[in-house]
Amino acid sequence: MKKVSFILNGENRSVYVEPNDLLLDVLRDKLGIKSPKYGCGRGDCGTCTVLLNGKSVRSCLILAVEIDGQEIMTLEGISKDGLTELQEYFLKHNSFQCGYCTPGMTLTLEEFLKKNPKPNEEEVKEAISGNLCRCTGYIPIIRAVMEYVKNRGG
Ligand code: FES
Ligand code: FES
Repeated sequence: MKKVSFILNGENRSVYVEPNDLLLDVLRDKLGIKSPKYGCGRGDCGTCTVLLNGKSVRSCLILAVEIDGQEIMTLEGISKDGLTELQEYFLKHNSFQCGYCTPGMTLTLEEFLKKNPKPNEEEVKEAISGNLCRCTGYIPIIRAVMEYVKNRGG
């Protein structure tokens, strides 16, 4: 076992991990962070997305030992003071059904909208193209994002 220390949702955390433990499993099973989900386990679906130093990554593809000294943000972190404005638009537009994809989708959009605060619809579609949603058909998600962008002055 190796001790890894890192910042998780703004707090210093340490945990002992095996060399082959995946970040996704350590977050869920050892640290009680349940928003990243297991979907495909091979980087295709985006349900396990977290932010690593502000950049969206697939936690099913990262070894927990790799995150020593780094910063992880999950949905629990971005919404710890209440729903974000984008999440409010997700609610308004019923942008989820089962919700399985929603944490990963939200974090992907979080990163994207920081880099591109005024995207057009095609850019939004492209941004979430790596996050699979089996329920919504994507339309309510895109509506929520576009209204959010419009109303915040984008
Ligand atoms: S579970 Fe990681 S990308 Fe699908
Ligand atoms: S809301 Fe069910 S997979 Fe997206």
